[in-house]
Amino acid sequence: MQTKIFQTKIQASKVAAKIIAAEIKQKPNSLLALATGKTMIPIYKELIKLKPDFSQVKTFNLDEYVNSNEYHNFMNKYLFSKTNIKKSNIHFPKNKNYDNEIKKSGGIDLCILGIGMNGHIAFNEPGTKFSTKTHITNLSEETRKVNKTKHKKAITVGISTILKSKKIFLIATGSSKAKAIQQTLKGKISESIPATALRKHKNTTIILDKDAAKMLKKRKI
Ligand code: GLP
Repeated sequence: MQTKIFQTKIQASKVAAKIIAAEIKQKPNSLLALATGKTMIPIYKELIKLKPDFSQVKTFNLDEYVNSNEYHNFMNKYLFSKTNIKKSNIHFPKNKNYDNEIKKSGGIDLCILGIGMNGHIAFNEPGTKFSTKTHITNLSEETRKVNKTKHKKAITVGISTILKSKKIFLIATGSSKAKAIQQTLKGKISESIPATALRKHKNTTIILDKDAAKMLKKRKI
């Protein structure tokens, strides 16, 4: 696992945007697994500036609240409406068949992840088995509070769905993520911190700004 640390959130976001644009250029019909959340807003903003050709790109979002289009609306607002992506190439998890749909479409080339303050990836909350595929999950109190949501359930790709991706990038910015990042990179690999599963993957890069990386530094004696 590689870790790249940048001075500012905007620098980290620009690098993440360039990685997505480079993937699309190199493989125009790439299958991208995409995240929502505040971390992604500047990344999608920078990505749009690079004007990638989305005409053949397929996207599979990582998660959505049950009985809601909130994340779909987020993606329309911040990314899809500003690209030439075909509506038929946009996918959101609806049921357990999502893993098969991903497989039939060629598998995830590039998976872009954020991280929750409790170490969740997509909506795989602490305690989720690393073997899980797409499933409905009960959101933790902490996640509901941080996300300021009334929704109690979400449908999310599983950890095993994520780990099947050819490349994974996890982006974290801001000091609120520092503890989760320290646990992810330095703690024991454990289902109690879902993001630690990424250490089992061969091609994962973690992109951080210095605030998110602040607990990784060695203490001076
Ligand atoms: C949300 C989403 C995740 C996202 C994470 C971080 O709950 N389910 O996919 O990566 O939490 O969100 P934010 O970037 O707003 O901190």
